[in-house]
Amino acid sequence: MASFIIAGGHRLSGEHRVQGAKNAALPILAATVAVRGACTIRRCPDLLDVTATLNILEHLGCVVKREGGDIFVDSTHLTSCAIPEHLMREMRSSIVFLGPLLCALGQAELSAPGGCEIGARPVDFHLKALRALGVQVSENGGKLLCNDGAGRRGARVALPFPSVGATENLMIAAATAQGITIITNAAREPEIIDLARFLNACGASIHGAGESTIVIDGVNRLHGAEHSVIPDRITAATFLCATAITGGEIRLRNADISHMDAMLAVLEYAGCRLRAGAGEFHLAAPSRLQALPVLRTMPYPGFPTDAQAVFMALATLANGISVITETIFENRFRHISQLQRMGASICVEGSTAVVQGVDRLHGAEVEACDLRAGAALVVAGLAAQGETRVHDVRHIDRGCANFEQGLRALGAKIIRES
Ligand code: UD1
Repeated sequence: MASFIIAGGHRLSGEHRVQGAKNAALPILAATVAVRGACTIRRCPDLLDVTATLNILEHLGCVVKREGGDIFVDSTHLTSCAIPEHLMREMRSSIVFLGPLLCALGQAELSAPGGCEIGARPVDFHLKALRALGVQVSENGGKLLCNDGAGRRGARVALPFPSVGATENLMIAAATAQGITIITNAAREPEIIDLARFLNACGASIHGAGESTIVIDGVNRLHGAEHSVIPDRITAATFLCATAITGGEIRLRNADISHMDAMLAVLEYAGCRLRAGAGEFHLAAPSRLQALPVLRTMPYPGFPTDAQAVFMALATLANGISVITETIFENRFRHISQLQRMGASICVEGSTAVVQGVDRLHGAEVEACDLRAGAALVVAGLAAQGETRVHDVRHIDRGCANFEQGLRALGAKIIRES
């Protein structure tokens, strides 16, 4: 079990190049299964979750090659419609193979997906949406069996909540359904737009991605294409927070700040100076941050749940009281007990955390219980006095590529111990 050992109290300064977005790369790689032909997906981050996705693709019979950030997938000769449990368990987003397998083979056999333990994470919206397209779904001994029998037909589907994964699965399944599908209350995340851009490059006809209503005019088949994944807005924010908590400054390259409005507004409110230039973004933090504005996680374009933990790390040392409410996942406060071990003053009432900024945090032994919680503990450790040991960092490796190298390049004292 690997750990990060951090000697806190060093001001970060320098430049960081933002990785490609995990949450865009994973559904796009899964969607290559729906394509007859070869695809090249560029700027894929080097992450455990990407490796897990490639393992699934290979299991299904795809030819996969990886050269740095470029991943080549040829799905012409699929050999299986079933993903075994040990591969499904690797990550939550494996459920997004459902739509692509239905496109390619008309059937899919999956078990319950794994991933971060941040809540119940049901897949009922995915299944209800697919049923609306005519897919028959049955569950047997923990397995999901899906079959589209006479083929999928376009339909009007209203999602009960703008679920990212359900929107992705439905968009892919509808891309080659007969007729028109209209998704209302669709997720509007930038990663949805990126998936639609990829599918359209493959010949799909998807309009309105990024808005609440998406219209998909089904086509007969999808062909191969090349695509570059958008920058990761969450790891970009993680590096901004890591710098801000140490009172430092950072120049981000390859960030798309138009995806980061809600997070940048919070950093500015807390006293950071932000400046956008050609192809880069600059943040300079004050020696002590002000308390954050009242934060509530919301579907995009609201404040992202994936950034809640790292911003809470900032609040622990800010001047004043910050109030943070998590509305998306019910179990996403697992970093709080660990931050408290470092001296943070946080009270929890239901899904709201009240954080009283303290003058200093102290190093401690803490556990990275999920990806974003783990990143938050590293951020806190960078500003804590003394040594922080963050254990079980494989969760962080699922989403942040070369995290410690990126931080070290900014002057952080962080090493990995196996
Ligand atoms: C995706 C992101 C994840 C992010 C989340 C919300 C990927 C790989 N992961 O996860 O990083 O935190 O969006 O921005 O892109 N829900 C149901 N039934 C369903 C589906 C979802 O009740 O069938 C609920 C979930 O339990 C959760 C909420 O809807 O409370 C949002 O989930 P969703 O948007 O689907 O998140 P994911 O796609 O799993």
